[in-house]
Amino acid sequence: MKPEPRSLPRSSLAGRSILIIDDSEAVRTAFEVLLSLHGAQVVSAASPAAGLAALARDSVDLVIQDMNFRREATSGTEGVALFHDIRASYPQLPIILLTAWTHLETAVELVRAGAADYVAKPWDDARLLTSVRNLLDLRSARAEAEELRGGRRAKRAALATRFDLRGIVYESEAMHILVAMATQVAHADVPVLITGPNGAGKEVLADIVQVNSARADRPYFKVNLGALPNELIEAELFGTEAGAFTGARARAGRFEAADGGTLFLDELGTLAGSGQAKLLRVLQTGEFERLGSNVTRRARVRVIAATNTDLRQGIRAGTFREDLFYRLNVIELEVPPLAERREDILPLARHFLEDGFKLSAAAAEALARYPWPGNVRELQNTIRRACLLSAERTIEAAALNLPVSAAATSAQPELDRVTVEQALERARGVIAHAARDLGLSRQALYRRMQKLGLKSDAPRPPSGA
Ligand SMILES: Nc1ncnc2c1ncn2[C@@H]1O[C@H](COP(=O)(O)OP(=O)(O)OP(=O)(O)O)[C@@H](O)[C@H]1O
Ligand SMILES: [Mg+2]
Repeated sequence: MKPEPRSLPRSSLAGRSILIIDDSEAVRTAFEVLLSLHGAQVVSAASPAAGLAALARDSVDLVIQDMNFRREATSGTEGVALFHDIRASYPQLPIILLTAWTHLETAVELVRAGAADYVAKPWDDARLLTSVRNLLDLRSARAEAEELRGGRRAKRAALATRFDLRGIVYESEAMHILVAMATQVAHADVPVLITGPNGAGKEVLADIVQVNSARADRPYFKVNLGALPNELIEAELFGTEAGAFTGARARAGRFEAADGGTLFLDELGTLAGSGQAKLLRVLQTGEFERLGSNVTRRARVRVIAATNTDLRQGIRAGTFREDLFYRLNVIELEVPPLAERREDILPLARHFLEDGFKLSAAAAEALARYPWPGNVRELQNTIRRACLLSAERTIEAAALNLPVSAAATSAQPELDRVTVEQALERARGVIAHAARDLGLSRQALYRRMQKLGLKSDAPRPPSGA
């Protein structure tokens, strides 16, 4: 055994229970000394049967197991059987395989089958401790995440029983807060401004506000201010008197039609000066005139406005009225881009899949990594197209047809904590798996985890990258 570097903190092993299954007393003793020195509680078993009995009896956080249990055995088949027995009953338990360097292939195969890691005999203490720590940290992180997710699910379920959430799909805390806010402000009869990039879900949020308001059963109209030329927008909003312009008929505008109800004004940032002035007036006084008429009419309409442009910037540039802005943004709901709430990607993707379709692991990985500049709408289109074009019921990564360069370039700098944790989770803590998924070497992933504080500042595993 090499002396252990002093820089290793002891915390992550403290109080954790580790089971050693090895027929050699010398090996068991060596592990007992090393691991208990770092605060772990070590349980030893000399045979597979004794190991399984210990697992049934004690609560164990991690297993280190040998591959051969008789002096004359070298095939490793006993170890393979033991591994599968443990996996069958404890699917989440991290298992480190101790293997002769001549049998690395079997170990690697088992790692593929879900073993957490392997260590070649004679082992290097620092390397082994690094692996143990990583796996224990990951186990705690996963347990915490699971608890958190359970808590969030409960909160979401509670929200969904009290309000109509219009089938909105999300997993992230950011969206939960936003949706909860939308339901809260719904019954306050004030304007709401919804901001966020294209396709992020602004309209879905507007629908949630409307359907949970006291005006839910009253008229609800949507006007896309960006889709019409300016003259027509005013006619659309406020109506026209016959002859107001060539060919104009007498016609009520949306404010009249929505009286007592709600108007969703999409792409507010494109509204020109005179339209802005009229909108401000109707918001302040409820009054307006049809184009070409001097009869003042009144309507009591709740306005929900949406924009993907920065209105504050418009105010500074003199293109958007500050007084109108403050009228409308009594309540501002800011929808974050999908890239800032990556937890939502896969739940949304699965939601958009046609019945009977599913995603391959690699496809899920590619979706989770892609930057989604077009947000939820782009994701929706991608999934729909893949379902349409895929000959198979399992959508493969290639069928998604994601721009390769964007995905690839974003992968490196965007290996944030969530991405790494998710990859580790999908790989059930199998470092080699997660590394392959992320397109990294095992060493590179260890380094990444270290940077993200997913483990101690332990030395890197030897060899390779
Ligand atoms: N959280 C979500 N759950 C389910 N579907 C969603 C969600 N967010 C967005 N969508 C769907 O994605 C598409 C785009 O959403 P939406 O139209 O609300 O975006 P937007 O922000 O208004 O976009 P734009 O700025 O382009 O108008 C819609 O089909 C919508 O139903
Ligand atoms: Mg929209």
